[in-house]
Amino acid sequence: MTTQALLKQLYETPEADLIAEITQLKADLGDQLLILGHHYQREEVFEFADVAGDSLKLAQKAAATDAANIIFCGVHFMAEMADILTADHQRVILPDLAAGCSMADMADDEQVSRCWQELATIIATDMCVTPVTYINSTAALKSFCGKHEGVVCTSGNAQRVMNWAWSQREKILFFPDQHLGQNTALAMGLSDDDMIIWDPYLPLGGNSPQAIAHAKLILWKGFCSVHQLFKSEHALTMRNNHPDIQILAHPECSREVCETADFVGSTERIIEHVIEAEPGQSFAIATELNLVNRLRIQHPDKPIWFLSPMICMCSTMFRTDLQHLCAALRSIQKDTITHQIKVPEEQKPWAKLSLQRMLNLG
Ligand code: 13P
Ligand code: SF4
Repeated sequence: MTTQALLKQLYETPEADLIAEITQLKADLGDQLLILGHHYQREEVFEFADVAGDSLKLAQKAAATDAANIIFCGVHFMAEMADILTADHQRVILPDLAAGCSMADMADDEQVSRCWQELATIIATDMCVTPVTYINSTAALKSFCGKHEGVVCTSGNAQRVMNWAWSQREKILFFPDQHLGQNTALAMGLSDDDMIIWDPYLPLGGNSPQAIAHAKLILWKGFCSVHQLFKSEHALTMRNNHPDIQILAHPECSREVCETADFVGSTERIIEHVIEAEPGQSFAIATELNLVNRLRIQHPDKPIWFLSPMICMCSTMFRTDLQHLCAALRSIQKDTITHQIKVPEEQKPWAKLSLQRMLNLG
């Protein structure tokens, strides 16, 4: 049966039967299987995750597991990251191959290599620039960083990684998320004067040679289509309506939103912040809807609002549903896997090097 036909059949199966089958298949596969789930996954899928976490925690778990089969309930770059960090005999499966990340698509190998060459006409790139890629990027870019003494970061360790990067060389080229790079650098005490933005569609990224020579941080002009929907006006309205509210924001949000927030952190840090708060503390949270809804249910004693009046949901994270999870599990059981993620062999060692540099920083 084709994957298409199997999915059609599974969409006609009652949800209770799907849940029963997934539970049974998980039990049958035992320690041959590890299901990793990102916090943005829909609830019914999230419940089947053996380990739930942000990108950093999931990278650490992927690097440590012995399971022969890893189902990654997340998006494509996360499954690539797990394939890079696991051994050759381990298989990483992405339940829906169309679960991508629009931010990761905003920088490709060709554009970044062109940027590096253009920068080299003005500065000695290999001597003075550390490339830092957000984990939300292709394996090809992680490989680029490995080759050029660079490193990967997540929203959970960006400060630590950028500190290290500046200890190696005087400048950082940060891609693909402008906001994570900018918000982190501002929190570290850098000023606007230290940063430039690189637009890959303009010569020299839209900068003068003098500005490039002067900059400490070169920020790729990329963004998250979900987090860009939060606006500082939303924060002001919340504060007016709820004077005691605390605003929590993910660093993929714009600078304006992060500057109005009481706390900025990765999904894992946001969760910890809510857990540690006193009962009665209210929050408005600027990150993906599925996570905020889960926090609201888990903490009925802490009123939790979604910062935006609009629905900010990651549609690609949402693609993984019970049907795709069930199909992935059946394919492992029958040894007919079609959704395995395999990073090209020539990229793997370099990409692993840049990821390992990050993991070594803690
Ligand atoms: P973290 O879970 O690492 O905070 O990242 C959020 C995100 O956008 C994942 O794609
Ligand atoms: Fe990509 Fe944004 Fe979705 Fe995260 S939330 S996977 S950065 S599109």
